[in-house]
Amino acid sequence: MASSSSVLFFLSLFTLISLSFLQQTQISSEKQTLLQIKNDWGNPAALASWSNSTFSSYCNWTGVGCSADGSVTSLILWGESITGSVPSSICQLKSLSHLDLYNNEITGSFPQFLSTCSNLQYLDLSQNYFVGVLPSNLDQVLPNITYLYLEGNNFTGEIPTSISKMTRLQSLWLDNNLFNGTMPSFISSLTNLQQLALAWNSFTPGPIPEEYGTLTKLTNLFIAGAHLEGEIPNSFANLTHNNLSGEITINNPFGAQSLVTIDLKKNQLTGPIPESFCTLQKLSLLFLSYNKLTGLLTSSNSLTGSIPKSLRQCPDLFHLEVDNNQLIGKLPSVLWQMQKLTQVIMNNNMLSGELPSRLQWNLTVLEIENNLFSGIVPTSAVIFTYLRLAGII
Ligand SMILES: *[C@@H]1O[C@H](CO)[C@@H](O)[C@H](O)[C@H]1NC(C)=O
Ligand SMILES: *[C@@H]1O[C@H](CO)[C@@H](O)[C@H](O)[C@H]1NC(C)=O
Ligand SMILES: *[C@@H]1O[C@H](CO)[C@@H](O)[C@H](O)[C@H]1NC(C)=O
Ligand SMILES: *[C@@H]1O[C@H](CO)[C@@H](O)[C@H](O)[C@H]1NC(C)=O
Ligand SMILES: *[C@@H]1O[C@H](CO)[C@@H](O)[C@H](O)[C@H]1NC(C)=O
Ligand SMILES: *[C@@H]1O[C@H](CO)[C@@H](O)[C@H](O)[C@H]1NC(C)=O
Ligand SMILES: *[C@@H]1O[C@H](CO)[C@@H](O)[C@H](O)[C@H]1NC(C)=O
Ligand SMILES: *[C@@H]1O[C@H](CO)[C@@H](O)[C@H](O)[C@H]1NC(C)=O
Repeated sequence: MASSSSVLFFLSLFTLISLSFLQQTQISSEKQTLLQIKNDWGNPAALASWSNSTFSSYCNWTGVGCSADGSVTSLILWGESITGSVPSSICQLKSLSHLDLYNNEITGSFPQFLSTCSNLQYLDLSQNYFVGVLPSNLDQVLPNITYLYLEGNNFTGEIPTSISKMTRLQSLWLDNNLFNGTMPSFISSLTNLQQLALAWNSFTPGPIPEEYGTLTKLTNLFIAGAHLEGEIPNSFANLTHNNLSGEITINNPFGAQSLVTIDLKKNQLTGPIPESFCTLQKLSLLFLSYNKLTGLLTSSNSLTGSIPKSLRQCPDLFHLEVDNNQLIGKLPSVLWQMQKLTQVIMNNNMLSGELPSRLQWNLTVLEIENNLFSGIVPTSAVIFTYLRLAGII
């Protein structure tokens, strides 16, 4: 009995020693890997704290995050002026799940070897100097990715269809690149997406994919400057709180009843301001500046004025921005009776008629210069912080 329990004791002691030896080895290998990465990056000044000579734990080095057992789980190096390509030694950090290299000067094509970082869930390579096409098997390169930020590079070619299999994705930012082909409708299979940014790419002109209407978890959709044309799809009825922009002609009713902001500034929108905006009860910010909006065509195709009366049905509208369009006709008087509307910007149009002699006292911004208004300048609004009325005839 006595001898077997001492055998057991020695056995456990041995196990303990070998376990702690293993842990030490792992820790020193994480440290060596970090030093290797630093070396591969040409020892940038930003990584001065990554030093073999100090006694501080590598878990305290700039940008390094560890789990309790000393495995490196995150590298967050924002704006550190790091140059060169992404070293493949990064994937020797076996527990790395979060790699964020936002806003550096990193060059090269998409680092395909990231497939060996098998726990990667968060990847941010945005605002760097990457070029070339994305790997066609991106789903296999980044099988666990939930957050993917590649915006602000020079990636080219088409967005790979394999992205449609990356169903864990919650954020996908591909804007401000040189992607071409059509705006990918297959993204609609990413039903966990909350943020999707495709703006400012070189897509072939075409419509917003109707299929995006199935992305019901979407809270942010950024598609400005993406060469869109056509209508806002009816399927968007189920999307809420978006921020749409792009070359879109709107002539369908909306059902997105929770939209708070519509930002369609600086597009090529034509036609009238759609009456259907006014069915959006929560709309409070409407930006339509710098488009080519024209008068309102009624069903009988006669021009009746260009700011729809029905806007008054948007009870929360407080900022209306329609400057720099080709809006013509008289403003509906109901506009001046909207209780919350305190910021009105409509300069550089061809709006006409008289302004009311009394404006709501709490109107704080009114810009109406370069229109065809006639009559007297209203004086009753007392707390303008910004008033531009020049050009009243
Ligand atoms: C860091 O120090 C260890 C032990 O002193 C040594 O074995 C290793 O080669 C050093 N690594 C570098 C990159 O200098
Ligand atoms: C990290 O640095 C802080 C303060 O500089 C120190 O208190 C802490 O013990 C260090 N942690 C490790 C793991 O070295
Ligand atoms: C990215 O493309 C822009 C415009 O096409 C070009 O001016 C810039 O030099 C390119 N940058 C890189 C790193 O390729
Ligand atoms: C990552 O994906 C692989 C293959 O799909 C899977 O085996 C593994 O469990 C995943 N890891 C995490 C951390 O989700
Ligand atoms: C997309 O760009 C690549 C070069 O980056 C080119 O070979 C291809 O023809 C382009 N495709 C389209 C549809 O413009
Ligand atoms: C909105 O979602 C509901 C429930 O999922 C669905 O029945 C309806 O067809 C959708 N509407 C549109 C316009 O896609
Ligand atoms: C729309 O989204 C863009 C990009 O995220 C942002 O810069 C802009 O401020 C947003 N506009 C509004 C009105 O929220
Ligand atoms: C502006 O004044 C009107 C009338 O006094 C008031 O009902 C309305 O709530 C005010 N609007 C804002 C945004 O304060």
